[in-house]
Amino acid sequence: MRLIRGAAAALTVIVALSACEARTPGDDAGATLAISCGAVGQEFEICRRGVDRWSAATGHRVELVSTPNSATERLALYQQLLAAGAHDVDVLQVDVIWPAILAPHLLDLGPVAGAAIDGHFPALVENNSVDGRLVALPWFTDAGVLYYRQDLLEKYDEAVPATWRELAATAARIQSAERAAGDTRMWGFVWQGRAYEGLTCNALEWVASHGGGTIVDADGRVTIDNPAAARALEGAAAWVGTISPPGVLNYAEEESRGVFQSGHAVFMRNWPYAWALVESDDSPVRGRVGVAPLPAGDAGRPAATLGGWQLAVSKYSRYPALAADLAAFLTSEAEQKRRALAGAFQPTIVALYSDPQVTDANPFFARLAASFDAAVARPSAATGVHYNRVSNAFYGAVHDVLSGRRDAADALADLDERLRVTLGEGS
Ligand code: GLC
Repeated sequence: MRLIRGAAAALTVIVALSACEARTPGDDAGATLAISCGAVGQEFEICRRGVDRWSAATGHRVELVSTPNSATERLALYQQLLAAGAHDVDVLQVDVIWPAILAPHLLDLGPVAGAAIDGHFPALVENNSVDGRLVALPWFTDAGVLYYRQDLLEKYDEAVPATWRELAATAARIQSAERAAGDTRMWGFVWQGRAYEGLTCNALEWVASHGGGTIVDADGRVTIDNPAAARALEGAAAWVGTISPPGVLNYAEEESRGVFQSGHAVFMRNWPYAWALVESDDSPVRGRVGVAPLPAGDAGRPAATLGGWQLAVSKYSRYPALAADLAAFLTSEAEQKRRALAGAFQPTIVALYSDPQVTDANPFFARLAASFDAAVARPSAATGVHYNRVSNAFYGAVHDVLSGRRDAADALADLDERLRVTLGEGS
């Protein structure tokens, strides 16, 4: 273990592979690379296995850098490292909303990707291309989904909810019946309510499914101050302390999974990675969970926020060619298949969705194909380098409404004004 120089947060680095004897000749002989891998659920371990395969094939050592689970904190750390021109990390795991923000610090991976890039979802390739440079290779994609306790829905003869209203009613009914029957720790619905990027994802789903738009539209106009958005937020605020634990205001992905997987919630909003874990051998709810599209709002359509991660190479890497090779290896079809089987990470390579092993291990990939197609993107394309400020202001306002500090209409009016200033529209 060691600490990354210049980083305020404690970054731990774990040597992924013991020293390899075989070295490739040339300037890079004896290189030790560093890659940052997420550590949500079993992400870190699954990344390590892929890295080990590359190390075994090339003879190069790779250190795994564990970064904070919160996308918001991870971005802050990357910005700090990259602004300092630090050599500490060669390959970075980059969120789908960051290419424009980090582009000046990233290498063009177009040449190393070659024709293989055509196998990925074109929208992701476009997302990762900034001023004609492919600054990141797509690694896995995801979208918000609804997890439900099939056994409890059957016990109470309830259907999978199609609208948020139905979800709230079913959650309340089962929660109170289960509590009355002695399970005093049961809650109706868990999700990600902490003030961080994950709340932007959850709240965008509520707002978009109520017909309240996407905060900022595709042309860069701020649209968030509207009655449908206010209704959506008020609806969610009413869940806190009723069907959702008050602590949900400090939940990220893993806290919600913890409650749901230990059997203490009827419904959970999360990403596909949670499937492999709730279905794992030692999961108390194994075999009792279903996955469905998120409910629709009053506007009658569901919305799932598009998420996902890419691999990029830092401009400050001492071993750019090796780092690009590692990124290309980890994002290859074989690796994406292994990751889909082991961790329910959704491939970015279209052909893998016709691979029976992949679809058998993740039956919901096919069942939710329509909702993934209709996934709502956060406004990162329209806001470019300003996206992070837009998101911070949005989740801050939403958190205020959820915690009862502001009413939704006021919070959204203020937010609208603030975003116009941020985006240079004037106030
Ligand atoms: C997931 C998504 C990512 C999103 C994050 C928010 O990791 O893949 O895009 O920003 O959740 O918590």
